Amino acid sequence: MTAQLIHGKIIAAQIRADIRAIIETKLQQGQKQPGLAVILVGDDPASALYVHHKRTACEEVGIKSFYYPLSKTIPEAELIALIQQLNQDPAVDGILLQAPLPKHINADQLFELIDPKKDVDGFHPYNLGRLAQRRPLLKPCTPYGIMLLLDHIHQHPKGKHAVVVGASNIVGRPMALELLIAGATVTVCHRFTVDLPYFVKQADILIAAAGKAGLIKGEWIKEGAIVIDVGQNRLADGTLTGDVDFEAAKEKAAWITPVPGGVGPMTVAMLLRNTMVAAGYMNM
Ligand code: GUN
Repeated sequence: MTAQLIHGKIIAAQIRADIRAIIETKLQQGQKQPGLAVILVGDDPASALYVHHKRTACEEVGIKSFYYPLSKTIPEAELIALIQQLNQDPAVDGILLQAPLPKHINADQLFELIDPKKDVDGFHPYNLGRLAQRRPLLKPCTPYGIMLLLDHIHQHPKGKHAVVVGASNIVGRPMALELLIAGATVTVCHRFTVDLPYFVKQADILIAAAGKAGLIKGEWIKEGAIVIDVGQNRLADGTLTGDVDFEAAKEKAAWITPVPGGVGPMTVAMLLRNTMVAAGYMNM
């Protein structure tokens, strides 16, 4: 079997076009422009690139982006004051604090300081708690985007065995919650999982989100599986690659996401969607 590609890049472009059309209509009706504040602390090149993509996407659809590029030595108190100010600012509907943060900053405390109504990353314990209780409000962007990809290819998780590799707060854990809500049987693998191939071989839906190039071997993939690769690993020669051995996996899977052009653009599209929801322009 040779897998069909899941073209996240094309699907995300359609979502952005729909958002743009909604904003145009609302602006003509005299509503205020939605606004997203983006905070980047330090000069990590990968984070700078992600933030660039997010801000460009905002501009393209008509969301105003307020940009705060900050020194990696910024005192924590200044970041706290900035978030408190943005929480109060009516022009700002969403606040995005790009992770990772420098070690002297208590990241958990800062994410928790963001008003849950403006938490367009869906990282706040309140929003994650709502997801865990099957009553989601703003949802983490990457898992949300992956659920839309599955929907788009008409492959519904109900009754399937979904295996999530990676248990991060940003992707793995909320991904497991989303799949559980959708009726999948969910296994979460992580760095202490003893026999990773044993679990991957059982996956009808595999979500690879460990952040390790080539971690998932093609021969582990179940015949006919759906393979979603969240990995964004930069190799020494500058190429971007996922967590899955793509060439071998595509010979066994029924569906597979490419890297780049799969999950990444969906994460950005869901950030825009969450900003629209936070601004009251769209429902979940
Ligand atoms: N760092 C890596 N991915 C993300 C994300 O989706 N949001 C934020 N805020 N930081 C990140």
